[in-house]
Amino acid sequence: MPFELRRAIRERDGEGAELWCRYLNPQMARVVHTIGLDRRWARAEGAYLFDDTGDRYLDFLTGFGAFGIGRGHPSVRRALHEALDSELADLVQMDTPLVAGLFAEALLKRAPHLDRVYMCNSGSEAVEAALKFARYSTGRSRVLYCDHAFHGLTAGALSVNGGREFRKGFGPLLPGTEVPFGDLGALQRELSRGDVAALIIEPVQGKGVRVVPDGFLVAATQLLHRRGALLICDEVQAGAGRTGRFFSYEHDGAEPDLVTVAKTLSGGFVPVAATLGTDRVFKKVYSSMDRVLVHDTTFGTNLMAMVAGLATLAVLEEDGLIENAALRGEAIAAELKSVASRYEMVKEVRGRGLLVGIELGRPRSRGPRARWELLTRVRRGLVTEMIVVDLFRKHRILTQTAADNMDVLKLLPPLIISDSDISWFMDGFCEVMDSIHASSRPVWRFGWALASRAATPSRPATPKSAGPSPRG
Ligand SMILES: Cc1ncc(COP(=O)(O)O)c(C=O)c1O
Repeated sequence: MPFELRRAIRERDGEGAELWCRYLNPQMARVVHTIGLDRRWARAEGAYLFDDTGDRYLDFLTGFGAFGIGRGHPSVRRALHEALDSELADLVQMDTPLVAGLFAEALLKRAPHLDRVYMCNSGSEAVEAALKFARYSTGRSRVLYCDHAFHGLTAGALSVNGGREFRKGFGPLLPGTEVPFGDLGALQRELSRGDVAALIIEPVQGKGVRVVPDGFLVAATQLLHRRGALLICDEVQAGAGRTGRFFSYEHDGAEPDLVTVAKTLSGGFVPVAATLGTDRVFKKVYSSMDRVLVHDTTFGTNLMAMVAGLATLAVLEEDGLIENAALRGEAIAAELKSVASRYEMVKEVRGRGLLVGIELGRPRSRGPRARWELLTRVRRGLVTEMIVVDLFRKHRILTQTAADNMDVLKLLPPLIISDSDISWFMDGFCEVMDSIHASSRPVWRFGWALASRAATPSRPATPKSAGPSPRG
């Protein structure tokens, strides 16, 4: 019998968690259940998810950034249907397909100082390519990366990951050295050893949502180039318009040698990722005909991905989404800052465009402070996880914590959001913060429940982290 999606869903409806427990990652089913995110998602459109009871949810998580242009954008859908029906010969491999050329050309228009593109299937793969290209073209192996950096979880990308929790037990990894984010002095000290291939950096870090200090990228480029090393900007999450510019390094006027991009670029339908670079770097890697496939991947330039990428670039432009990201980003930040003084726990609102972080910290008043300390003693970040859960359960807003062991609530809305979406979020946020600052409200009860589970490592259903967090 041929496979039919609708029939399969009809016949096995409700078995998802069970199948995940049996065949995929059982911890995902446990975490989702423990924190009460286990809805049966019926449908999605734009900035919203709908469960099987018809309830609408505001998606400020966007599949860890993949749905930057919103879910199910009709233009990308139409383009993909057209591609499916085209019967074009795809992945001939020893071939130079036009559509990949068109996509590369369109991408490079967004980075005029760069010349070439390598296409691949995920953010991690784009990072792998950038690391390999930097190492090969400089003839050096050591890569510098920043504290709290996240560049993916494949072995190369993991080697430049600033989070110990991800690296532990997977070594030995590639040679690399962590430098403090935005610290020129530390960069200079490492470069003086003369063995550095590159610095890889997210101009706006996904973990913790820290923005690189003004002037750092330009000054770092000068230092790196003086020592024959390269600057890699990882734009997998911040790129393709999220920060109000196509690439977030543009805010600083920087010109990195290699740039990675993915997530939003996909339109949310087909994985799309790319590594952009200078001709100088690419010429070294692909220096002769016998090196034509020296770095390559089978599905890199597949038709569906190229079409999704081209259609997404067109949507970003035609729908004015980059301008919207800048505008709505400013609006959210302004609203958050205007209420911040009401809440002792809000320490800082930061980010760029629609990559927003709300850092929470210990309150001054006795009651809330005691409760904060009690939970934080069990695990740092638990209060923020509690807020994520409350936003979801009571206000149907999907958010995330910005990392394990960090008290930063992260907002990653789609670039299409409107004023009414911002009001939806702000109303929910203020209500949760009001109740969390007040004494003995139910929101804390859930915190105690989470804490007791977190404090009981032997319980099988204990999630390490409660809020949807670590990837994005
Ligand atoms: C900045 C950054 N780089 C790389 C990655 C890895 O991308 P992927 O999950 O597509 O492999 C991520 C994923 O969150 C990311 O945020």
